[in-house]
Amino acid sequence: MRRLRFKMLIISLLFAGLEVYGQHPLMIPDTMSGTEFYLELQHGTHSFLPGTSSATMGANGSILGPTLIINKGDSIHLSVKNSIGDTTTIHWHGLHVAPENDGGPHTSIAPGEVWNPRFKVRDEAATYWYHPHLHHRTNYHVTMGLSGLILVRDSVEQSLNLPRAYGVDDFPLVLQTKHLDSLHQIDPNSNQDWLPMVNATVDPVLEVPAQWVRFRVLNGSSQRSFNLGLSNQSLFYQIASDAGLLEEPYPTNRLLLSPGERAELMINFATMQDSILSLMSYASEIPSGIFGAQNPGMNPNMALDNYHPNPLNGANFQMLQFQVVESNNQANTELPAFLTEVEPHNPNQRDLKRVLEFSPMMMGMNQLNSHFLINNQSFSMDVINYEIPLNNMETWTLRNNSAMAHPFHVHDVPFYILSRNGAAPPINERGRKDVVLVYPMEEVEIILHFITHYNPDIPYMYHCHLLPHEDHGMMGQFIVYKPLSDEHIDAESFSKVFPNPVQDRLHIELSNRVGMVEWKLFDSRMLEIMQGASSGAFDLQVGSLAPGVYALRLEGEGAVQTHLVMVQ
Ligand code: C2O
Ligand code: CU
Ligand code: CU
Repeated sequence: MRRLRFKMLIISLLFAGLEVYGQHPLMIPDTMSGTEFYLELQHGTHSFLPGTSSATMGANGSILGPTLIINKGDSIHLSVKNSIGDTTTIHWHGLHVAPENDGGPHTSIAPGEVWNPRFKVRDEAATYWYHPHLHHRTNYHVTMGLSGLILVRDSVEQSLNLPRAYGVDDFPLVLQTKHLDSLHQIDPNSNQDWLPMVNATVDPVLEVPAQWVRFRVLNGSSQRSFNLGLSNQSLFYQIASDAGLLEEPYPTNRLLLSPGERAELMINFATMQDSILSLMSYASEIPSGIFGAQNPGMNPNMALDNYHPNPLNGANFQMLQFQVVESNNQANTELPAFLTEVEPHNPNQRDLKRVLEFSPMMMGMNQLNSHFLINNQSFSMDVINYEIPLNNMETWTLRNNSAMAHPFHVHDVPFYILSRNGAAPPINERGRKDVVLVYPMEEVEIILHFITHYNPDIPYMYHCHLLPHEDHGMMGQFIVYKPLSDEHIDAESFSKVFPNPVQDRLHIELSNRVGMVEWKLFDSRMLEIMQGASSGAFDLQVGSLAPGVYALRLEGEGAVQTHLVMVQ
């Protein structure tokens, strides 16, 4: 009761405050397109509330970054200059790129340095994003303002009758909340993120034409989920999930979006000219155990440091106000009935099943905190959790044994959700995804196909996208390697033999993924003249052999490799 009264007080103060602050036109980030992109990460200041100034970080500006528009099939080059005076990285969230271009925690950019990833865009049209990813610093850099959207265009999307005039009938919406302290400075370590904003604009208002309008929505918050709906309760349509179009527009009046997730929405304002309505978060409907609900844990006794009081928890609040104005002359009059063929991977073609269990690092009985483990392990930069052969088709069972929901994200490849607690996922979760919210005590099965890229030295990440959880170790890493086989031998990844030609000592170095090998040396008549078993690096004395060609056959871990060696 007491808490409720206190909360009402805060809500009325907040609303009183907002009236004084007044509304602000929604900021629309600039765009960059083409194949060359330059981003400079920098410090700045931003006025979230009139008359105040907060220290921030942004790319090519003081907060957030430009929207990058790229085309499937293009080869692009990005230059990322780090001018924030602190080591960081930039990760292209959702893009299927090689590990060295992915911008994970191992690809750091030192202060003053420029990072130059180049890659071919292989992704389907959808809304992706970029953000820093340095271990222990991700939440700090993102919450200070570093992130931006990436729009991928492709021919399938291009052929559909959909709005795509950026800032005219196709709007980016980066949804976030932040905690500002009494000096109006961003406090990234607080769970009391009381200030909602869209595109870094507090209490934003957007003029929209009275027609079908497309919104590319990112939940860019560090922890909070939003339960989106329109204040007049009309239906809207989801047309894309994280990494691609849905098969058909999905009508709904609510959409729960957790951190890291994206959705493209279509709203029909055609009959609403001159009216005002809002995009709301109906957080009163968010189930317990999701950050944003009244209770952050599964039951009301569970407390999270600093979570209360916060007028946003479990209460409905406005994200954005729409003022509907005259339609423009390029109005789309209808929504396509069919969008694209969605073909989820087939679980019968699975090569491997993994189980990932989420559990809390135990504190007090009812004390939630930001320390969660995956398979009882906390992230270590030096530990590779999984080694995945290129082209493996895998199912991952995500078993949440904790009282909080975790938005789980995998780098490298998008995935499909096979089931939630054994049942088929909702229709709008049947497209390509790269983040899935796993509810408390829920089991979610996803399927992934690890194609195209491999690098035995640089891992990809999988993690909870609640940034404090990620920073505190709810993350793991995997490498994708090219498997060895009789038909397909990749010399580099198996062994090196040198010098060749050789006079007396032949040096053999086995890759550290290859354990013990049996080796045999044959002469030119294919008679075996030496043999043994070794691992790591070893030498063979060949000085006493007659000059000529010999064959060294190495066999290990189901793989065979033969080197022809010239003895002089
Ligand atoms: Cu959006 Cu590993 O990150
Ligand atoms: Cu990512
Ligand atoms: Cu988590």
